[in-house]
Amino acid sequence: MRKVLFVCLGNICRSPIGEATFNKIAQEKGLSDVLWADSAGVMGWHVGKKADPRTIKNAAKHDIEITHLGRKLSKEDLDAFEHIVVMDEQNFEDVHKFYYDTKKTPPSAEKLFLIRDFDPTVRGVHDVKDPYYEGEEVFEEVFQTLWRSNEAFINHLVEKHDLQPKASD
Ligand code: 4NP
Repeated sequence: MRKVLFVCLGNICRSPIGEATFNKIAQEKGLSDVLWADSAGVMGWHVGKKADPRTIKNAAKHDIEITHLGRKLSKEDLDAFEHIVVMDEQNFEDVHKFYYDTKKTPPSAEKLFLIRDFDPTVRGVHDVKDPYYEGEEVFEEVFQTLWRSNEAFINHLVEKHDLQPKASD
């Protein structure tokens, strides 16, 4: 099983959508036995809490149920997950520092990167917009950004590791 951890600031808006879209695409492609995602926050403000109601409502429009409860990124996560995938430059800096302080060596570009490195529409800016202080339409924009980025990310993983779909999925 290849494990991916999506990380944002609060773990109630963007990273739960990253996790849910990754797992949904993996399931649709028959890859849920070999790919699995979880999510966590840089900050511990929402530990044990459900995702933002707007996150849950918007995902439900796409037939995705978000049941994740908030948790904070831990030292154990740095080894437990093959890839740590962040939403914006600030998350990248925060996680990079946490990794370096913990392990005394920087993370590789394979280990830690921005999810929009895989967004085929990216021109310049690489951040997934923080929707927390925005309207519901931004939650849909975030969902679409993460869906198309995760499709490309999963295609990359399939090619790199020669992953085979399970026929019965
Ligand atoms: P997220 O969004 O990092 O995508 O989960 C936020 C969630 C909560 C807060 C900020 C951003 N907050 O300030 O509590």
